[in-house]
Amino acid sequence: QSLRIGLIPADGIGKEVIPAAKAAILALGSDIPNPQFVDLAAGWETFTRTGVALPQETVDILRQECDCALFGSVSSPSRKVVGYSSPIVALRKELDLYANIRPVVSVLVGEKPSVDLIVVRENTECLYVKQEVQTVGEHGKEARATRLITERASRRIGQMAFELANARPRKLLTIIHKSNVLSVTDGLFRETVRSVPTLPGVNGKYDQVTISEQLVDSAVYRLFREPEIFDVLVAPNLYGDILSDAAAALVGSLGLIPSINAGDNFVMGEPVHGSAPDIEGKGIANPIASIRSAALMLRHLGYTKGADRLDTAVDQVIREGKVLTPDLKGTSTTNEVLEAVLRIL
Ligand code: NAI
Ligand code: MG
Repeated sequence: QSLRIGLIPADGIGKEVIPAAKAAILALGSDIPNPQFVDLAAGWETFTRTGVALPQETVDILRQECDCALFGSVSSPSRKVVGYSSPIVALRKELDLYANIRPVVSVLVGEKPSVDLIVVRENTECLYVKQEVQTVGEHGKEARATRLITERASRRIGQMAFELANARPRKLLTIIHKSNVLSVTDGLFRETVRSVPTLPGVNGKYDQVTISEQLVDSAVYRLFREPEIFDVLVAPNLYGDILSDAAAALVGSLGLIPSINAGDNFVMGEPVHGSAPDIEGKGIANPIASIRSAALMLRHLGYTKGADRLDTAVDQVIREGKVLTPDLKGTSTTNEVLEAVLRIL
């Protein structure tokens, strides 16, 4: 028996940090029996070379030959490019990876250990259905985007969030929305998540979970002032994207924050950060987000011991504070941080 892991470094620092995650998994030895890695293409560079950002072959191999995957980051242009569409957004949809789970925990020395939360982001709809049109109206150009919220997607992300909250000591779930303005779309999200405990089959399972809610703007405010009040946050796609980058700032760097994209049949680990063009090619990208993403992915698949070992090693390197990349005010390189993790493993 072996674990088959698709590797999609994609663009920019993705190509620098995904190999580090692979090396860390290999260092787990017999905790992960015989891992097999499959290199797969996707991203902006793939698009400029072949005309497609997400080759069908990549999707087919992930579906047919892989148990899980690790994705790096893509360099999506901010302008409209004909024929280009973000491969990560497409992959989440193709593989029905409906939950984006993003734990944010502070471990840096000298920092209040006050942040210990999980952002549970709906991963398939909201404004990310990317149905945008531009027309010309009476006063010039007009652009419109569809924001799709369905009961089905809200329910399953709600169920995932209740499960996660129920498994944590504080059992606190905060629903993030803006129903005071968007009462139809965010209203449906809020109502549907709130109704999860009353679904058939739940039978009081979530009785211990305390449900609260917070409008998205004030949620960001409170996140910065009193992050300790949050435990599990569940949010529609766009709010979840923004909140998790904001939470990353609280614990020192985006380069620390892992995620998994999880569905019922597949899981893909992915650092929360992007391709970081400002530091690309310098060998100083923080590999910790990717190593932690590998840990989250392994934990999701039941490889608890291997996942624990990765997290413990990374936490130790951060706490010692001697080998850190520049985003954490250190002077070390990607490889030096990886070496430090490997030594502990
Ligand atoms: P970014 O996350 O790439 O970078 C934001 C800031 O954080 C930069 O200063 C960067 O140097 C720093 N940073 C990020 N990861 C780091 C790491 N591992 N170590 C050290 N520093 C790190 O966000 P930005 O600049 O807004 O986007 C750049 C590109 O990435 C864009 O083309 C965007 O579309 C893409 N992107 C892709 C994502 C994905 O593949 N899932 C997610 C977010 C952005
Ligand atoms: Mg993001």
